[in-house]
Amino acid sequence: MEVLRPPMGFNTWNTFGAEINESVIKETADAMVDKGLLDAGYEYLVIDDCWSKKKRDKETGKIVPAPDKFPNGMNAVSDYVHSKGLKFGMYSCAGTRTCADYPGSYDHEFLDAETFAEYGADYLKYDFCYKPHKADGAQLYRKMGMALRACGRDIVYSACNWGSDEVEKWIRSAGAHLYRSTGDINDQFESYRDIAVSQFEKLAYSGNGCFNDPDMLTVDMHGQGNVANGGCTDIEYKTEFALWCMYSAPLMLGCDVRKISDSALKLVTNKTLIRINQDIEARPPFSDRQEGLKANDRTTIFKLLSDNQIAVMCVNFADGERTASVMMDNCGIPASSGYGLHMVDAFTGEDLGVQKEFFEVRLQAHDSAVYLCDIAK
Ligand code: GLA
Repeated sequence: MEVLRPPMGFNTWNTFGAEINESVIKETADAMVDKGLLDAGYEYLVIDDCWSKKKRDKETGKIVPAPDKFPNGMNAVSDYVHSKGLKFGMYSCAGTRTCADYPGSYDHEFLDAETFAEYGADYLKYDFCYKPHKADGAQLYRKMGMALRACGRDIVYSACNWGSDEVEKWIRSAGAHLYRSTGDINDQFESYRDIAVSQFEKLAYSGNGCFNDPDMLTVDMHGQGNVANGGCTDIEYKTEFALWCMYSAPLMLGCDVRKISDSALKLVTNKTLIRINQDIEARPPFSDRQEGLKANDRTTIFKLLSDNQIAVMCVNFADGERTASVMMDNCGIPASSGYGLHMVDAFTGEDLGVQKEFFEVRLQAHDSAVYLCDIAK
């Protein structure tokens, strides 16, 4: 199947961890529709780890949904999710056990892919815990890639080996549509900043068909839930979301969308940011700094878009205020050309007119600005 744009949706792990069940999933599905998230593009509802019984069925060898969490089986859940117009995602692991110690798919890849197809799954996140030492990681991802291709259903393949074994170099060839490229995110500014800094130079490997996945978003978690670690401010969530958009990263919400705040909802449904994220060309951004993103200072990054547009993001990772500048020469428009950028603020919609040579913006600590631009005289 073709996955030409970064997948968008929701995943249970960040907020719920092991505390998942049929009601949580159904209520989340309702919220995704009622709050306009589906309309904005968030279509996958993915159940992460901890959904099954601790042991496979003795006779069939299949993984079995935990009856206390999913008393009506997985098809009842999947049917409900589909009835809302959403797509349904499941989780397994390339090793013998999942990271939270439930059955993994090692040596059961084809049977499990068939089981997920029977559930009506449209997406599979595939983790990397409990890998037998003798097994080759890339080969395990190839196996599930083949099993999904053989299972008779279109299933988005979301690999999750945390960036190990230089994953970006071989995962596209294994059939994955997205691949986790770092360790787990937690709900803290430093966590997403370090992920963003570490992946900047690797985005050249990301693109249509197979996207670098810097992990589920923590936007609006505010220190609540399974990966809580103090939380972020609204300004920090704004910067996190904008970075994921500039990276053409999958946008998987991790907060409790049943209770999402109005400000976070406005952020994650911002049409301009989503247009930048979903741009069909999925080009990597380039930076005005040699080192890509600077972890404790301000940086400006540029991303060429289809329709001859350009997205510009100024980000301030420093702990104090900074002035960020957009040097037109740095994005390839010398002053002598007579051209500049016609800039529109992605957050406020303000039209800043045509800016030539350079443009400056004052940014608070951890804040950012994003502009959708056209080249103009
Ligand atoms: C790993 C993954 C996480 C999550 C947990 C579940 O840590 O990286 O995203 O799926 O496992 O146990």
